[in-house]
Amino acid sequence: MRIVKVPLGRRSYDIKIGSGLLARLGAECSRLKPGRNCAIISDANVAPRFGNAAKRALIKAGFRPMLIAVPAGETAKSLKTVQECYDQLAAHHLERKSFIVALGGGVVGDLAGFVAATYLRGIGFVQVPTTLLAQVDSSVGGKVGVNLKSGKNLVGAFYQPRLVLCDLDSLRTLPDREFRAGLAEVIKYGIIYDAALFEQLERDLAKLLKHEPKALSEVITRCCEIKATVVGQDETESGLRAILNFGHTIGHALEAISHYGKYLHGEAISIGQVATAKLSAEILGLPSREAHRIRDLFKLGGLPTCVKLNASQRKNLFAAMRLDKKVSGGEIKFVLAKHIGKVVWGQKVPASTIEKALTTEGR
Ligand SMILES: NC(=O)c1ccc[n+]([C@@H]2O[C@H](COP(=O)([O-])OP(=O)(O)OC[C@H]3O[C@@H](n4cnc5c(N)ncnc54)[C@H](O)[C@@H]3O)[C@@H](O)[C@H]2O)c1
Ligand SMILES: [Zn+2]
Repeated sequence: MRIVKVPLGRRSYDIKIGSGLLARLGAECSRLKPGRNCAIISDANVAPRFGNAAKRALIKAGFRPMLIAVPAGETAKSLKTVQECYDQLAAHHLERKSFIVALGGGVVGDLAGFVAATYLRGIGFVQVPTTLLAQVDSSVGGKVGVNLKSGKNLVGAFYQPRLVLCDLDSLRTLPDREFRAGLAEVIKYGIIYDAALFEQLERDLAKLLKHEPKALSEVITRCCEIKATVVGQDETESGLRAILNFGHTIGHALEAISHYGKYLHGEAISIGQVATAKLSAEILGLPSREAHRIRDLFKLGGLPTCVKLNASQRKNLFAAMRLDKKVSGGEIKFVLAKHIGKVVWGQKVPASTIEKALTTEGR
């Protein structure tokens, strides 16, 4: 097992990465000394696979868990589901010392984290991420929340978990398309922070796609280390944390104009990152050889790298970019790469340059 610390003073916590961790969930929670009553929040795909194992592990350690299974998919990240969870927690008599286990992907993590942040003005919560995306990204850093009709993640909080348990075995049942989508965030860490990680991915991507345990645990650990370092320095995104949004301004807009149907998040940010690499070449002088390496790595991961848009879709895309939460004072600001492994944030980019980068395949 590998351990990464998220350094946030009294709210610091460990990320534990390894095989067979779900069976140790109860023992790991005991170390946090919470009350006996607890709730596992999971979804309709994950609960049948891992819900009982999680429950058994908690019971073995003396806890009294209840299992709440919400529908699978982004629509579960709603205030309606939050309300339903509150009602079940109250019926099960959860109190201030009780805790919640988020067992699932990023949807469950964001939802359960928000429920934990607000129920009784905040009870403890533990993340047990079961998608690659959740293991390397959403379970770490304390951004929790739900969607409104008018946009994604519009209601939420910064609320850190007490512990994150990444059980590598849980990735075995993850559909291949979801796994590849998670790789888009993994590649992102290489681009924004770690040229050596990027090179390792160029070498070892096939091993990761085969779920080779050593490669998987090394790479997931490195991603968590990077996220922990960034969050440790800038928990509430007043500066540095913005680098985690590399490729996301375009990616989020693509997701929005396709009504969250066509692309998985990882696929949309794959296109977004490849386009942003081109912008970086144009504006910051990212060597074009490196921009090509970036495009090629996403391709190798079986991810989409460009998009064809008609005139009205283009108009909608720019409107969506301007609505993004990250926009301030009406100006679209980008995270751009100087080199693989080094980015700068807060860069202004003209709309015409964005358009060109999005629609050309590149050499
Ligand atoms: N809080 C953050 O910092 C942060 C960061 C990135 C993304 N997010 C959020 O994360 C969400 C996306 O997360 P995601 O990609 O994990 O999606 P997800 O939670 O919807 O999971 C993807 C699909 O895989 C299924 N699944 C999960 N684990 C499985 C397993 N082990 N075996 C079989 N099926 C499994 C789920 O039921 C779902 O159908 C979005 O809502 C996004 O906004 C949050
Ligand atoms: Zn993302």
